[in-house]
Amino acid sequence: MTSTARESGKARKSTAARYQMFIDGRFVDSEGGKTFEVFDPSTEEAIATVPAGTAADIDLAARAATRAFYDGWRSVTAQERGRVLLRLAERVRARRAELAELETRNTGKPIAESEYDMDDTATCFEYYGGLATKINGEVLPVPADAVAFAMREPMGVAGQIIPWNYPLMMAAWKIGPALAAGCTVVLKPAEQTPLSILELAKDFEAVGIPPGVVNIVTGDGPGAGAPLVSHPSVRKIAFTGSAEIGKTIMRSAADQLKRVSLELGGKSPNIFFSDADFENAVDGALFGTFINQGEVCSAGSRVLVQRDIYQKFVEAATAKAKTIKLGPGMDRDNKMGPLVSAEQRDRVAEYLEVGRGEAKVAVGGGKPKQFDKGWYIEPTIFYDVDNSARIAQEEIFGPVMSVIPFKDEAEAIRIANETPYGLAAAVWTRDIFKAFRVVKALEAGIVWVNHMQPTFVEAPWGGYKASGFGRELGHWGVEEYLETKQVFINLDEKPIGWY
Ligand code: NAI
Ligand code: MG
Repeated sequence: MTSTARESGKARKSTAARYQMFIDGRFVDSEGGKTFEVFDPSTEEAIATVPAGTAADIDLAARAATRAFYDGWRSVTAQERGRVLLRLAERVRARRAELAELETRNTGKPIAESEYDMDDTATCFEYYGGLATKINGEVLPVPADAVAFAMREPMGVAGQIIPWNYPLMMAAWKIGPALAAGCTVVLKPAEQTPLSILELAKDFEAVGIPPGVVNIVTGDGPGAGAPLVSHPSVRKIAFTGSAEIGKTIMRSAADQLKRVSLELGGKSPNIFFSDADFENAVDGALFGTFINQGEVCSAGSRVLVQRDIYQKFVEAATAKAKTIKLGPGMDRDNKMGPLVSAEQRDRVAEYLEVGRGEAKVAVGGGKPKQFDKGWYIEPTIFYDVDNSARIAQEEIFGPVMSVIPFKDEAEAIRIANETPYGLAAAVWTRDIFKAFRVVKALEAGIVWVNHMQPTFVEAPWGGYKASGFGRELGHWGVEEYLETKQVFINLDEKPIGWY
């Protein structure tokens, strides 16, 4: 096997852990033997090598998942599938500290956020462990000489492609409902952050996941993601990531009329009326944008503020943003870590350049000077932003807020909806009538009132418009992995009277 350190020609003394991927119940190298490195974004050092999966590995995994589906998993009782997920949840809870540390080392995010992610991961497995036994069909009210019912059946092999911002949590949001439904899985984690799910895979056998039921193939998008989408045995693709790749996946899946669910990005409005609780509002604007360094699909990165509090709001948000402590995620004092990769840092830095030409900078706007390594970006607030500006229309996926003034409720709604996206939105006001009017007018899949970002595994997650389709979590999440079969049973002993 080639080490990537050698491939990239760097003479580095490697302390990096060596991970393998997980196919058919075994940890294996890729067929081609190639590997790539993953990094700690706060030190820029390689912390692990993982196999660079290719079409050959996807094929092995898809075949294993197909065998596991037909030979067993679809006939395993719902009770047993549920128990498997409950035991998996227990493992996540037992390994919370270790998995959270690994997640922070690989993503850069603050350790407290990783711990929260581990709790959400466990809760998600628990939820679907419970739901597995509640997937019912329906008996239909047809005439007396027939019985008709609708059965729910698993789709088969699910291909799942996830991003790097919430690595283990995204894996749980996808694996949980698929297993509850009776599907088997080939999951491709993001190339930047494959470690936490590979760690958890070490427990798959112990919790009773049979070989082939969950396969993890590591690799990049073109190398491993694309062949997963086009594999003929894969019945459904669930994807979370960029709108651009969402479109690519949909086009490719069309060839086989493969089912697709897409959770793409957003440019979510966070709307502040002048009657909102001011302190909460300022905190809510910062939290809504800067949590997870802004690497959040539902980031409230368009902050809409009513004119009569606009000036005061920008000043207060600016003062508070200056107090956000940046640094390595493992230090609990730090509230924002580095971005996940040099590539993402550069992408965000380019938007900062664009923003300087489109609006005024209140705070931040660049790479912080105090670090000699680490892919950091300062928490940045642009104000007097026009909603047509690129920084108001395009997903940045970093700690960048665009503040836009509005006059009244009608204008707030118009600006909020003037985006191709429709993932999330929030409205802050003490007026319950106004709150509900705005909730009803917003074109978004998730709407918060007087908060932004928290979500429960019981509640549906997904977008309107260019933010994708299909819903994750709750009972909606499991629907994405189920087919519906109509069964008609004739009770008329001479049913065919035609001839
Ligand atoms: P991406 O959409 O390229 O990557 C997401 C996942 O898709 C990764 O696992 C990747 O390997 C896979 N992928 C990439 N190309 C593929 C292909 N041709 N076929 C199948 N799978 C493929 O996102 P990327 O490049 O990491 O980030 C770019 C931008 O995307 C970000 O700046 C952000 O705006 C957005 N994004 C949105 C996310 C969300 O949660 N909605 C998550 C990650 C990124
Ligand atoms: Mg990409």
